[in-house]
This record gives sequence, C-alpha cells and structure tokens, in this order.
Amino acid sequence: MESTQKISIVGQLLINIRRTLKVAWKADRKAFLLVAIMTLIGAVAPIIFSYIYQLFLDQLIFAQSKLGIISATLLGLFALRYILRAIDNFKAVYQYQYLERVFRYRLENTLTLELAKKLSSLDMAHFENPETQNLIRKVREGYTWRIPNFIQNTFFVLASIGTFVSAFVILLPFGWWIPTTMVVAVIPRFWLRTKYSKISWSVFNQNIPESKELSYISDILEKPATIKEIRIFQAREALLSKMETLYTHIFESIKKPLAKFISALYVPIAVELLVLGLLVYYRLPTVVSGVITIGAFTFFVSMLDQIASSTREMTGELSELYEHNLYVGYYFEVLALPRLVAEKKHGHRFKEIVPPSIEFQNVSFGYPGGPHVIRNVSFAIKPGEHFAIVGQNGAGKTTLIKLLFRFYDPDEGNILINGKNLRELKLDNWYKFVGTLFQDFAKFSLTIKENIMLGNTREHNEQKMKEAAHKAGADEFIAKLPRKYDQRLGTAFEDGVELSQGQWQKLALARAFYEEAPLLILDEPTSAIDAEAEAAIFDHIDKIYENKNLVLISHRFSSVRSADTIIVLRDGRIIETGTHNDLMKKDTTYARMFKTQASGYLA
Ligand SMILES: Nc1ncnc2c1ncn2[C@@H]1O[C@H](COP(=O)(O)OP(=O)(O)OP(=O)(O)O)[C@@H](O)[C@H]1O
Ligand SMILES: [Mg+2]
Repeated sequence: MESTQKISIVGQLLINIRRTLKVAWKADRKAFLLVAIMTLIGAVAPIIFSYIYQLFLDQLIFAQSKLGIISATLLGLFALRYILRAIDNFKAVYQYQYLERVFRYRLENTLTLELAKKLSSLDMAHFENPETQNLIRKVREGYTWRIPNFIQNTFFVLASIGTFVSAFVILLPFGWWIPTTMVVAVIPRFWLRTKYSKISWSVFNQNIPESKELSYISDILEKPATIKEIRIFQAREALLSKMETLYTHIFESIKKPLAKFISALYVPIAVELLVLGLLVYYRLPTVVSGVITIGAFTFFVSMLDQIASSTREMTGELSELYEHNLYVGYYFEVLALPRLVAEKKHGHRFKEIVPPSIEFQNVSFGYPGGPHVIRNVSFAIKPGEHFAIVGQNGAGKTTLIKLLFRFYDPDEGNILINGKNLRELKLDNWYKFVGTLFQDFAKFSLTIKENIMLGNTREHNEQKMKEAAHKAGADEFIAKLPRKYDQRLGTAFEDGVELSQGQWQKLALARAFYEEAPLLILDEPTSAIDAEAEAAIFDHIDKIYENKNLVLISHRFSSVRSADTIIVLRDGRIIETGTHNDLMKKDTTYARMFKTQASGYLA
C-alpha cells in the first residue's frame, strides 16, 4: 500500500487506466475495439454535423440569391444531414443498448473470475489479517460497476479531448488567440470543479471510520447469526438509532461543500458566457459585411461552443475517474497481494501416499504482529500412530494444525514430513496425505452428496460416499431427508434444507472420511455431536485408522484416552507427553483435567 502512496494521483490514474484497459482488452477484444471506435466517432461527430450544417446554410443562402432554385447540391446536403443523423441514432442505440452491455458483461466476468482465482489461492495469513479483509471488502463493494465505469469514463475523457482538439485546430485559422481565449475562459470552471472534487474526496476520507461502522451495523442487523442475539438482547433500537446518527453526520459533512460549490458555480458560468458572447460579437461585422458566410459564422459559433462543452464534459468525467481511481487501485492491490508462504516451484513430491512420519523441531510461531503463541514445540508422530493434543482454550492446538498445513511458516524451528522440510514440499502433493475436519468446518450449500464428495474430487464413487456417511453417523438423518443424498442444504436456496449443528459436523466428518487419506486430522470433531453418536464414530475411526495416522484435538477426554501419544499444551508449550496411563500415573495437569471432567459425570 505504501508504494502506491508515493506515486502522485495523476501517476496512479495513468497506471490504473493502463491496467484496466489491459483487462478490458483481455475480456473481449472485439467489443473493446468497437467501443473505442464508437467513442472516437462520437468525438468528431458533432464537428462533422456542424460542418455539414455550414455547407447547407451557405447553399441555402446561395439558392435565395438564385431566385429560389433548389439545386442538387442543396438537396444532397439536406439529405446528407438527415442520413448522418439516422446513422448517428442507430450508432447510439447499437452502442448503448447492445455493445456496452456485452462489453460490461464480459468485463465483469473477467474481473470476477480473476478475483475469485486470486482470493481462493490467497494465504491464510491474508484471510486472518483485518487490514487485508478490509481491503477485500472495499473491492467487493463496487468493483463490478466501478471498473467498467472507470473504463467508460476514460473513453469519454479521450472523446472530449478529441472534440476539444478538433475544435481548437478548426478555430486556429480565425486567429490563434480566439480558441486560446476560449480555453482561458473555461479554466475557472475546471479549477472550481477540481477543487470541489478534492474537498469531497477529503470529506469522503474523513468519513471512512463512520462508513465502516455503518456498513458493519447494517451487516449485523441483516445476518441471522447476529440478529438473533440483537433481538433477544433488545439492542435493535439502539443500533438503528446509531445508524441514523451516523447517516446524518455523513450527510451534513457532504452537504456543506456541495452547497458551497453550487453557490460558487455562477461565477465561472458567467465568465464563460461573457467571453463566448464577446468572441461572437467580435466576429459579427465580418458576417454583416459579407467577409465570411453565414454558414461559416454558424460553424465558428458552434466550434466555440464545442470548446466550452467538451471542457465541461471532460471535467465531469475526470472527477468521476478520480473518484473511481482509488477503488480501481484496491482491486489491483488485491490481485497483487504477495504469497507469504512461498511454495517451491519444483517442490518435492512423495511417490507413495502412505502414513507419514511428522516431526516438529523446536517450532516457535506468532501470528503476524503478535506475540509467540507456539513456543519451542518439539514432538514426533510415527507412521500409523494415533496422536492427541489437549489443552485449554487458546493453548495453541489449532495453530499447530495450521502450521502443519503450512498456512503459516514457523518463525523458528522446522517441521519435517518423512524427514523432508515442509518448506521443500509441493503442497498439493502434501495435502493428498491429509484429510481433515477443521474446528470451524465449512458448511456448503450444496447437496449432501456434493458436500461429502468435495473431500476427494479426483474420485467419484457413490458407494464410498455412502460408507463415509455411515462411518460419520450421518446416514440416519440423511435417510429421513426428502431427497436423501441429493438433498440441497442451507437456507441460501429455495430447495435447501437446514441441518442441525451436529448434523453439519457429521457431514463434514464424512467429507474427511471420504478422502481416505493416510493421515486424518480432527480438530474438535465431535464438539456438537451427541455422546452415543460420538462413541460410534470413534469406534469407526479406530477401525478405519488402525494402520493410519490420526491427529486428534479434543476437550473430551473419553475420545483422547486411547491415543498412542498425548501431548498437553499450555500457553504454546508442551508441558506433558505420554500415553493416557503414563499421564494418569504422573498425576499432574492431564490427570487433573481428566478427573475434573470425569467427576462431573460421576458425582
Ligand atoms: N488468526 C489469528 N490471528 C492472531 N492471533 C490468533 C489467531 N488465531 C489464534 N490466535 C491466537 O493464538 C492463540 C492460540 O490459538 P489457537 O486457536 O491455536 O488455540 P486453541 O488451543 O485451538 O484453542 P481452542 O481450544 O479454543 O480451540 C490464542 O491466544 C489466540 O488468541
Ligand atoms: Mg482450536
């Protein structure tokens, strides 16, 4: 972000124009060229019309002197004028009703696809960074219309420049000072508009915290997850009135400079009209004395008008361009977000996907900008071993898993897989080893079948899919759904059915089972699942994973006790290691936690 701040606004504008035009070119070359050509035709069309009108008027006056004989030239010019109008009308319809829509549609597709490509490959660290999240939110808010509008504004500015230059050059033979004076006359308006743009931009910047808060409040007032509590705690009124206050605040700060701009506008308009009037008046004698024709005079007047109006349009377009510029910049900033976890281009690939050995060697890690939450952790997991991690909330259990997936790199120490450093591995190869259920697992509003089969898209096996559902204890509730395995889930779609929290978790577990990976990592897999179902699930896990690796994180000691090795984490450090029996014998932290939980049942 810093580097873009160093470049001037104009520099940034030019960079963004180049980038957007490149994207537009990529999106649809034909439509891009046609839009460009149409816009440029639009730039010179008013001048051609004026010129034809000049010729027409002169012929008309000439015909008057010939006692009213309508010559072929006069007729021809008359016809030409209307033929050109018809063409222009058709062009307008074609351009705005068809071409621009096609162009916008194609452009939007490309922009959205590029963004989706980038976002889906982004490092986890970016997703967990509030600043980046903010940036992404800003991009999402308006890239689909701001970027196409930005491109359109660019074309319009170019067209205005085209009209302006043509009118200027045409007026030169009348004396260079005439178009120059006209240009000077439009400067006050240009200046005022630029000043207003700057003020409104700074007002906009001032209001960013308020706008952020506004969009957050309106967000939580709409989302089912938050509105439930807001209603029960009766916080609705308070939040709505806070929104109103914020809106009023923003409105007041926008209104003032706008009113000032409007009230100051009459000065430049008066200057412009005065100069225009004087220049026209100055030419009058030459017309009356017959030095120039009435047609030429009309043409002269309309060229002066063109200079004024093209400048007016240009300032309007430029200020819009300026407004979109920052957002357009955000879009490309997201696309340019760097890879934080740099994967080796020709990383190591294991030939055989079999239960691996895993080793953490003196690993320390802190989230970006934060303190270490994993401190000098070392442990080893042998192929086929069942490994459990326990510890209080915030001890660092989930973080260890994130490191194992290389969502982040450790600050110190190494993680070895089959003796190879994780940094040396090709990640898509490593991920083939692992099936997982995250603590904050995903709920896909897809069908049951798709939810499970996402676990392994390389294989399509309905039999296995149903087995996975059975092992996860999901088959029972699936059988009761109207469309069984083809049932769409979630409330996002009309035909979707909502599941209970535990049912969702079973489904996510089935997804992990479906992959049949040699290493299964479960982070609180049964936190929402009832005790009977949990026992059945762990029976299955013990069977299916007998010769495979299992890494289990759980607060429920009943499911942890059969692990070959248990580590106890506290504040990011391993404080105990051993089997259940070892640790019970030691009678320290693990034993105390175990007994506390057990006493709750036995009391
Ligand atoms: N994305 C993040 N950014 C910054 N800090 C984080 C992030 N995620 C977790 N932390 C911090 O790291 C520490 C360890 O968190 P972690 O999620 O690993 O705990 P945990 O042992 O899995 O806890 P729980 O039992 O509640 O799931 C916590 O102090 C937490 O505040
Ligand atoms: Mg956790």
